[in-house]
Amino acid sequence: MKIVLPGGSGQVGTVLARHFHQRGDKVVVLSRKAEQRLWRVVPWDGCTPGAWMQEIDGADVVVNLTGSTINTRYTPANRKLILNTRLDSTRVVGEAIRSATRKPKLWMNASAAGIYPHARGESFDEFTTRTGADDLSTPETWRFAADVCKQWEEVFTAEDVPGTRKIALRTTLLLNPNKGSVFDVLIGLVRKGLGGHQGDGRQCISWMHDADYVRAIDLLIDDESIAGPVNLCAPAATSNAEFMRELRRAAGIGIGLPAPEIAIKISAIFMRTEPWLVLKSVNTRPGVLQTAGFDFQYTDFGSAARNLVRRWKLNAY
Ligand SMILES: NC(=O)c1ccc[n+]([C@@H]2O[C@H](COP(=O)([O-])OP(=O)(O)OC[C@H]3O[C@@H](n4cnc5c(N)ncnc54)[C@H](OP(=O)(O)O)[C@@H]3O)[C@@H](O)[C@H]2O)c1
Repeated sequence: MKIVLPGGSGQVGTVLARHFHQRGDKVVVLSRKAEQRLWRVVPWDGCTPGAWMQEIDGADVVVNLTGSTINTRYTPANRKLILNTRLDSTRVVGEAIRSATRKPKLWMNASAAGIYPHARGESFDEFTTRTGADDLSTPETWRFAADVCKQWEEVFTAEDVPGTRKIALRTTLLLNPNKGSVFDVLIGLVRKGLGGHQGDGRQCISWMHDADYVRAIDLLIDDESIAGPVNLCAPAATSNAEFMRELRRAAGIGIGLPAPEIAIKISAIFMRTEPWLVLKSVNTRPGVLQTAGFDFQYTDFGSAARNLVRRWKLNAY
């Protein structure tokens, strides 16, 4: 199979590219950086038609993962970048698919579980029509992040690509031990004794182990009956307190200093990030995957954490 990954140089893209490459697929990453990887990297700018479109012509699957990081301060300039990189890349990938003579069978486009409302005691599957964009009980920055996902999916849905199946990947926290990943950052905190719960620790974290993530993507490629939004998450979310406790246990660290809400808000300013990334309760259910009979390997966060810490220590991604 030929698989093209626009924006595939980042965390999710590297997990997918490695998986497809290892099983013998032909992988092409579209990137602004000319990097030496085990797979081909073809230049593009994420918004303009160009020679890169030839890669899409004849590809079997396209997975667009482009998007400027949300792990930043939401200044007007950063908001524009966060939104436009997602909408522009979606539009131009749609244009490439339309102009291809041999169209891909499947186009998966990144989205995020951040589309859902702040979950207080309820969980959301793909049939939920409410989004966090309209949740006036939450701060404006939280609504902005949800609204980006909403607009991103609207643009994706509007792209008319006859003959190509479309899936919006509502990814939750993808856990992989790679350098620079969220897991890598969290383990760093735990080892410094800073791995206590954050906020009141009761907010939910929806997550997915990288082994399940790539297996779920394989299922989405194979099962031609699936289209539309798909939640990529373990069957049940974990509370922040339990998540941090299991991380400490897996890393063999006895204690962890908790970070109350006010400390998160202040440190977010110095770390140039936004507190919602830690304080919002994300509680999703993998409705589509479960209906399709997906066989999860990691349903319990403790066993996922032990596997990830072992691989992190071995530097064996
Ligand atoms: N990681 C997660 O757990 C997670 C969870 C939910 C949703 N998502 C979504 O899934 C997608 C991939 O996530 P990720 O963690 O792999 O993100 P990432 O590591 O930040 O990678 C995103 C890619 O987007 C490209 N990009 C960034 N700024 C750009 C710009 N101004 N113009 C064109 N391209 C730009 C970059 O490619 P180049 O620099 O190579 O051009 C980069 O490799 C993102 O859209 C993210 O919002 C991720």
